[in-house]
Amino acid sequence: MIIGGSPVQALAAQLATAADRQLGTVVYDRFPDGELYARIDDPVPDHVVLVTSTVSSDAHIEVLQLQDALREAGADHLTTVLGYMGYARQDGAFEPGAPISARAVARAISTGTDEIILVTPHERAVQEFFPVPTTVVDAVKRLAEPLPPGLVDPLFLAPDEDATTLAATVRDAYGTGSVDACAKTRHSASEVTVRPAEQPVADRDVVLVDDIIATGSTMSEAVATLDTDGAHRVYAACVHGVLAGNAYTKLARAGVESVYTTDTVEGPTSSVSVAPAVVDALTA
Ligand code: R5P
Repeated sequence: MIIGGSPVQALAAQLATAADRQLGTVVYDRFPDGELYARIDDPVPDHVVLVTSTVSSDAHIEVLQLQDALREAGADHLTTVLGYMGYARQDGAFEPGAPISARAVARAISTGTDEIILVTPHERAVQEFFPVPTTVVDAVKRLAEPLPPGLVDPLFLAPDEDATTLAATVRDAYGTGSVDACAKTRHSASEVTVRPAEQPVADRDVVLVDDIIATGSTMSEAVATLDTDGAHRVYAACVHGVLAGNAYTKLARAGVESVYTTDTVEGPTSSVSVAPAVVDALTA
């Protein structure tokens, strides 16, 4: 049986179809004082796959509730799939007195499950924070699927050095094009500057590839730079389209042609599902 957390109901349905398993019904509600309430409305088999994305503090509470409800209902083996793992970027104590938040949430989520599947975490090393067996699934190559065919002399561009492998993966899946990376300097949580890559971009189609679009500052800065440098069309592709606040507006104003994201964070830009990649891990 596949059980979906409230933020990823479409992904849960895709996963149920792809894995040929029953999609369980969950009631998501809230008490008058604001506390969450979640209830499984179907008989529960021995092995259950719970899929969610911890996109908010509420989603963190909900995953703990659903794990507990599933155990209570008789699930003997529980696999928890984190499509998007919130707090994963807080993977170190960056100043004295700060927590390693990724470790804190990993420990909490691990208490209610037998194993974890993580979809394209910001850093692979975050899996070490989970005290239960944890598998990383890389869904980046799926971002090639929604790209238009016949891109003009395509350049797959990482907005920073760290994303170069992701850009190369999408290029390989698309089948043609070159790969390069910009240089990014982060000044604050929402302020970055992006310097152009070495490869010329004039009259070329450029596909920017990253793991996350959060505030949209990184991508919109990169789009604006490419626009100034004469790129033909600029696309933005990422696995986790968090798109916080006015991120989409920033991208649109910068001149992006289209934004492609997966269903780990459901929204208007979710154009491809990570379900097949998760099914591969479930059946491995
Ligand atoms: C950072 O290293 C990540 O790969 C992304 O580039 C970053 O999280 C994007 O954040 P934002 O959209 O807020 O610039």
